[in-house]
Amino acid sequence: MELLKQRILADGKVIGNDCLKVDMFLNHQIDVGLLNEIGREFHRLFAENNITKIVTIEASGIGIACVAAQYFSVPVVFAKKGANKNIGNNLYTADVYSFTKGTTTTIAISKDYLNEKDRVLIIDDFMANGKAAHGLINIINQAGAAVEGIGIVIEKGFQSGGDALRSLGYRVESLAIIKSMENGEIVFG
Ligand code: G4P
Repeated sequence: MELLKQRILADGKVIGNDCLKVDMFLNHQIDVGLLNEIGREFHRLFAENNITKIVTIEASGIGIACVAAQYFSVPVVFAKKGANKNIGNNLYTADVYSFTKGTTTTIAISKDYLNEKDRVLIIDDFMANGKAAHGLINIINQAGAAVEGIGIVIEKGFQSGGDALRSLGYRVESLAIIKSMENGEIVFG
């Protein structure tokens, strides 16, 4: 998505060789006009999939998912982080390891909001190692729902998450794929 790539080049800040800070328009201050174009693009890509729900994970995924959901006219369900597995049996849970933080978090979605009739589009801001997406897929599978696809705003193509999911047969659509960002130079794939 050209508009997004231009915005990443204009306002993204490379930290080290592998972290892209986009607080200016996506992760802290949010450019809602840009989000609207991102939502329109996800809808164009998945319009034929009869999506019934968009699933994401708190926090940064929620805003993106909500704007996209307006195009699909479906609800958003977001996985909550830091769930306590012992708080009852009405939750689907999965453990997600973060390489960035070196910690494991339990994520949860209530059984009330996902079922075997759902055709789900997963949406998130970043794809790095793909652990968050795997956790969401695990929960969607527990519900017996179908994963129709995974829509990512920025994929770090030099990390393995996106291609690993594609090789498992999932349809991963990333609106910008970064091939490398060594020495502060962002190269798209
Ligand atoms: P993974 O799910 O793909 O395996 O990602 P990883 O554990 O490596 O990353 C953990 C968190 O860091 C995720 O957000 C992910 O979106 C974010 N992240 C990964 N790489 C980058 C990057 O280069 N730039 C930015 N801005 N974020 C990155 P999170 O901890 O779930 O936080 P939240 O922002 O959604 O609350």
